[in-house]
Amino acid sequence: MADPATPSGVTEIKVRENGPYRVQGPFRMVDADGAEFDVGEEGSVVALCRCGGSTTKPFCDGTHSRAGFKAAERAVAAQDRP
Ligand code: FES
Repeated sequence: MADPATPSGVTEIKVRENGPYRVQGPFRMVDADGAEFDVGEEGSVVALCRCGGSTTKPFCDGTHSRAGFKAAERAVAAQDRP
């Protein structure tokens, strides 16, 4: 069964510490040709690779852990951006 959508009903993209982008729907995802990826039912959760090492791109396959991927981005208020 699919995970529920976020409480607010807004799609959330969460940057995981040293890991993937976690997307919690509703959303649809298409490739460069417009073909749709199977991401399960509405409200599903997927993890998208941001380390570049996954063999199942665009999805995370856990390679980031073995590769020692480090990324410590945090949200910065708009007024504090360069
Ligand atoms: S972020 Fe998990 S394999 Fe790339």
